[in-house]
Amino acid sequence: MLSIKSTVELNNGIQMPLLGLGVFRAQSGEEARSAVRTAIEYGYRHIDTARIYCNEKSVGRGIRDSGVKREDIFVTTKLWRTDYADARRGLIESLERLGLDYVDLYLLHWPFAGFERAYLELEKLQQEGLCRAIGVSNFKIHHFSMLQAAGASVVPQVNQTECHPANAENVLLGWSQAHKVALEAYSPLGGQGHLLINDPRILSIAEHYKVSAAQVILRWNLQRGVIVIPKSVHAERIISNADLYGFELTPEEMSALGELDRQERRAWDPDRIEARPAELWPDPVPED
Ligand SMILES: NC(=O)c1ccc[n+]([C@@H]2O[C@H](COP(=O)([O-])OP(=O)(O)OC[C@H]3O[C@@H](n4cnc5c(N)ncnc54)[C@H](OP(=O)(O)O)[C@@H]3O)[C@@H](O)[C@H]2O)c1
Repeated sequence: MLSIKSTVELNNGIQMPLLGLGVFRAQSGEEARSAVRTAIEYGYRHIDTARIYCNEKSVGRGIRDSGVKREDIFVTTKLWRTDYADARRGLIESLERLGLDYVDLYLLHWPFAGFERAYLELEKLQQEGLCRAIGVSNFKIHHFSMLQAAGASVVPQVNQTECHPANAENVLLGWSQAHKVALEAYSPLGGQGHLLINDPRILSIAEHYKVSAAQVILRWNLQRGVIVIPKSVHAERIISNADLYGFELTPEEMSALGELDRQERRAWDPDRIEARPAELWPDPVPED
């Protein structure tokens, strides 16, 4: 039975909590720090940040403030493109900002040019114990073949990708299960500015269980075995987004939610990532 403590076993035997808190656009400082502390106090044991979110210092402070032991929290961060030529430096600097000796999961943020070489470096960092698991983000199936062709020896433990009812990623999910790559849903509510919480079909299921549309959407992915990392900086939402275990969607409701799939990606197409205009890619800034 699913609970806030549910985990998935990664292909290297590490347990990864199925529910985490995302902190993209959580402001560095009090906003990010208190979101992280609130989430951990309520029972989250998994935080998802990235170099480019520019809030790693605040995430580290929130973790320390929570008083929960480091080894009981699963921390993910991601390598940004400005460090693809020197992944070691990228990770060491992230660890310094987080105030941690290791992260639980280190991801390549996008298949930016040079990702294959960066991944080979991640394999070494993992062997040295600086990250317990390694993986990728925004990867399509063909990107995995490119890693293999480049001589990768570790199958990525995780692929974090955009996944919600409007972009269900059924093919990628089937492939991931067959290849033992855990699928992690980013923008699980539809993404900031594109939330699916007003969809009448989702709302009618929510009304039936007396829960919110956000809870229905998150529960749908959990029941598919997909890791979810909803972002919020509001305590009441952080708490309700983790209150997902008092109801269970029926197979019919799962199928009805599955029918909302329009393969509608809100984020940039990973195959066109290098064509994204430079002004849309602010370089990371120093943190307070
Ligand atoms: N790897 C990647 O390329 C990538 C890309 C995007 C995201 N991510 C990760 O995935 C995480 C989640 O994705 P996301 O931030 O894009 O989108 P999301 O989690 O789908 O949606 C977050 C938005 O929903 C609002 N919200 C949260 N809970 C709500 C609720 N119960 N009712 C109403 N509104 C609610 C939040 O506002 P408030 O904060 O104001 O509550 C925020 O604006 C990110 O934070 C990040 O960690 C990774």
